[in-house]
Amino acid sequence: MVYSIAIDGPAGAGKSTIAKKIAKELGFIYVDTGAMYRAVALYLMRNHIQAEESTKIVEACNKINVSIEYVDGEQQVILNGENVNGFIRTEEVGMMTSASSKNKDIRMKMVELQRELANKQSVVMDGRDIGTYVLPNADVKIYLTASSSERARRRYVELTAKGVTCNMEEIEKDIIARDHQDMSREFAPLRQAEDATLVDSSNMTIDEVVNEIITIFQKSHS
Ligand code: DC
Repeated sequence: MVYSIAIDGPAGAGKSTIAKKIAKELGFIYVDTGAMYRAVALYLMRNHIQAEESTKIVEACNKINVSIEYVDGEQQVILNGENVNGFIRTEEVGMMTSASSKNKDIRMKMVELQRELANKQSVVMDGRDIGTYVLPNADVKIYLTASSSERARRRYVELTAKGVTCNMEEIEKDIIARDHQDMSREFAPLRQAEDATLVDSSNMTIDEVVNEIITIFQKSHS
């Protein structure tokens, strides 16, 4: 029996931290779908292809091979044989990813891989369209959000801890722009699935969110 937990929500809501913890606790695989779209965006950037160049993107899709592996429980994204984990976490790649992931050819390719993964093993999968499109029959669907100011504050703390100089207002502006782009695209936009549970993490600790979702999962199949 394989189970799936879908966690969708805007950038910076804590999806990956929370999904990783839940996966560890339940013994499931954590699938970070954003990282897959980031790898594709990195390929486009390296090959000077813009998000709007759909003909070039179709060609690129035939040349791109994205797969994932796990090292010490950490997801590694492999782009044409290269582990690109070290290159995909920048703000620049994040903005390009939000723009290029509007492309349907890219999405179809990634969705196929995501469904294959979820067919083979129990997963906690996070992204933007997991509950609405990728895994419409997921056992649990969560829409995880937080206010844009709280999401900006968390990102600011994270970047500052890494020694990156940044400005909280700028970060919040980028977050709002990315939310808008992800929610307004035509194909599989970010939205709460009708049967998803809304969790607002603005005033919750990570462990509180993790426990709430695990409780929902346990109730779902008891
Ligand atoms: O979760 P993240 O910040 O790594 O995602 C980067 C971008 O990828 C996000 O702005 C939108 C896109 N994305 C998507 O369109 N669908 C997904 N399932 C995951 C991410």
